Amino acid sequence: MINDAIAKSYEAANYASHAYEQSFIANLHARSRLRGLNPKAPNSAKVLEIGCASGGNFIAQALVFKDAQFTGIELSKAQIKNGKTALEKIGIKNIDLLCLDICDTPAHFGSQKFDYIIAHGVYALHKNDCEA
Ligand SMILES: C[S@@+](CC[C@H](N)C(=O)[O-])C[C@H]1O[C@@H](n2cnc3c(N)ncnc32)[C@H](O)[C@@H]1O
Repeated sequence: MINDAIAKSYEAANYASHAYEQSFIANLHARSRLRGLNPKAPNSAKVLEIGCASGGNFIAQALVFKDAQFTGIELSKAQIKNGKTALEKIGIKNIDLLCLDICDTPAHFGSQKFDYIIAHGVYALHKNDCEA
C-alpha cells in the first residue's frame, strides 16, 4: 500500500521538520482578513496540520500563541516520536502529535472543528522516493 511506502521512507531517512512562514497562522489570519473573511484570532485558534512530520511548523507558534491548541497528524511513528521528545524537552503543552493517516481524520475527529487546517508539503517527494 502506498501509505506504508511513504511511512517507511520517512522512517528510513529523518526529515528535518522546520517552521515555514506560509504555515504561520498569523500569516493565514492576515491573508484571510484581506480577503474579507473573519477568521479566528490566532491566540485562541484550534489548528490541525495534516502530514506534520515532527511538528516543526507548530513549535514557535505554540510558544507565541499559548492559548491556541495545535494538533498534528502524521503517518511516520518515528517522526511523531521525535516530535514528542522535543515537546517534552521544551515543555510545550498545547501541541498534540498523533500517528494517523489523513484518510482516517473524519473517523478520528468526528464532528470536532478546526479554525485553521495546514497542509504543507504533504505530497512532496521524499529523497528516498526519488532514488527508488
Ligand atoms: C515533506 S513532509 C512535510 C512536513 C511538514 N508539513 C512540513 O511542512 O515540513 C510530508 C509529511 O507528510 C506525511 N504524510 C504523507 N502522507 C500522509 C498521510 N496519508 N497521512 C499522514 N501523513 C502523511 C509524511 O510522512 C511526511 O512526514
